[in-house]
Amino acid sequence: MSDAAAETEVAEAPQPPLDVEALEPCIRACVRDFYEKAKVDDLLGPVFNGSIRDWDKHLSTMDDFWSGALLGTQRYTAAPFPPHLKLTMGQEHFDRWRDLWIPSVEATLPDPIRARAISMGEHMSHCWGRAYTMMTREKADA
Ligand code: HEM
Repeated sequence: MSDAAAETEVAEAPQPPLDVEALEPCIRACVRDFYEKAKVDDLLGPVFNGSIRDWDKHLSTMDDFWSGALLGTQRYTAAPFPPHLKLTMGQEHFDRWRDLWIPSVEATLPDPIRARAISMGEHMSHCWGRAYTMMTREKADA
């Protein structure tokens, strides 16, 4: 994605009433679809498999994270970025993450939340990638 595209606004949160009960299973399906690909991906697989010991727990954390981002539920209350700082990655990992995330969203999420899941994924992969590379470079230079 270009810098200009990354600066555009993330699609607005869908307005209530959202059928949370019907959408939660879609989010779970999306998370699982993504990780089935990510676990065996040549770039992302080694990072995920090298760090995650309890997959059920990780998937449930990711369900909660995306449910919060897309439906406004508040089960996920942690800071999502810091745990990534202990991993070894570059912008290419975040680009690949986006390339796997968007087709999973398109395959599993219906209209009221699909556009936001795509634009959040694009925005986060770009911004986290930049922040991550800057912060880990500073650490290496220190
Ligand atoms: C920008 C897109 C990304 C988003 C939105 C995202 C989101 C998250 C969230 C919410 C968590 C849970 C943090 C917690 O425990 O509270 C997490 C953990 C994790 N993510 Fe990401 N992530 C992204 C990119 C990546 C990439 C590119 C990788 C590389 C493979 C990655 C690998 C991991 C790993 C290994 C963990 C578990 C860390 C641990 O051991 O605690 N993530 N991610």
